[in-house]
Amino acid sequence: MDKIVIRGGERLIGEAGVSGSKNASLPIFAASLLTEGENLLHNVPRLQDIQTISKVLKNLGVKVHGEGNTYRIDATEVTNEEAPYDLVKTMRASILVLGPLIARLGKARVSLPGGCAIGARPINLHLMGLEAMGAKIELRSGYVEAKADRLKGATISFDTATVTGTENLMMAATLAKGKTVLQNAAMEPEVSDLANVLKKMGAKIEGVGTSLIEIEGVESLHPTEHTVIPDRIEAGTLMIAAGLTRGNIKLLKCPFRHMETVILKLRETGMEIEPEGEGVRVVGTRRIRSVDVKTQPYPGFPTDMQAQFMTLMSLARGLSIITETIFENRFIHVNELQRMGADIRIQGNTAIIQGVESLNGAKVMASDLRASASLILAGLAADGVTEVSRVYHLDRGYEGLEKKLAGLGANIRRVKEEG
Ligand code: EPU
Repeated sequence: MDKIVIRGGERLIGEAGVSGSKNASLPIFAASLLTEGENLLHNVPRLQDIQTISKVLKNLGVKVHGEGNTYRIDATEVTNEEAPYDLVKTMRASILVLGPLIARLGKARVSLPGGCAIGARPINLHLMGLEAMGAKIELRSGYVEAKADRLKGATISFDTATVTGTENLMMAATLAKGKTVLQNAAMEPEVSDLANVLKKMGAKIEGVGTSLIEIEGVESLHPTEHTVIPDRIEAGTLMIAAGLTRGNIKLLKCPFRHMETVILKLRETGMEIEPEGEGVRVVGTRRIRSVDVKTQPYPGFPTDMQAQFMTLMSLARGLSIITETIFENRFIHVNELQRMGADIRIQGNTAIIQGVESLNGAKVMASDLRASASLILAGLAADGVTEVSRVYHLDRGYEGLEKKLAGLGANIRRVKEEG
């Protein structure tokens, strides 16, 4: 197993490109199940999660071929309707094949994802929506078994805005009979990127980017070509890296307009963030100001940036309060940050952070994707050497993060861990 070793204290200077979005790519891969013929996707990040969704699709009979950041996905033949436990347990987002499979084959058998490190993460809203569209759903031996002759349009109101739930139902609705209305739909840019792909495939969708999405089902969809949007979470993580090291960096292909809330909060800390030519200039400050944040569905502050922001606040002047409203257990990075000298107290879904003068390098362990990013960020700013182990979490969702940071001047390398 690999670990990342960082000697902290280097200022980050230079340019880095932002990779394609993981959470946009995953549903777009699943959407290829809706078409016969070859879909051509550009700007797909090379990540473990992309390998996993590729395996899920291949297991269904789909041809997936990746070269660099371009993927060709051909679902002319879908020979199987099952997403097995062994694949789904490694990535919950595998559930994204459920909607497209029912729409395409009239049946699906997808393992229930189960719990995960950051919280319970149920899929009841996905199932409620599919049932409203006429699917017969049974839970048997840890699997969702769904059947439908042809799905029919329905009005579905989500109690909680759900990203993959909105995506699953939107995909299912494209081939349903009649009109589907999704109320309180998730408005994340990744949902909109999927909607734009579906429209290119011939789907009739209105209200993209809003909380009210209307889909008029069509008889069939055709393959398309698409360039995935850049990853706003990776971009935000790199911005915080600059903020923690008094850096001065330019991010190329930065999805500035998808990052309004994050940029507002980072500016409040004293960082300078401005568009510059084709990219965005990010300049850190000597005195990081403390700022409160509360995670919210888009366009609010993303839960996927909470851990990284907490690292920044660990070195701010004063007290900050971070409230996590999306996932109940997303503070697992806190223990490890404390071991590096951060002063953080947890009360329910709130973290109270008293900024400290400095963090100390330590051996720490990543426990989920964004937690591992927060520890790498802490290592960049800490005195001495930090070793982050279990980096397979990082590899699920960041494309060569340590290479990008090294390119900006960080003293960081990946080493093989023994045993
Ligand atoms: N929820 C339900 N029932 C459902 C679905 C969701 O109660 O049927 C609740 C969840 O428990 C949670 C809230 O709704 O409290 C929102 O969860 P959501 O369904 O939006 O999360 P998700 O679709 O499973 C996606 C991202 C996550 C990201 C969240 C929130 C993908 C593949 N994953 O997950 O990304 O944190 O939205 O923005 O898009 C990551 O990239 O590290 C990651 C975890």
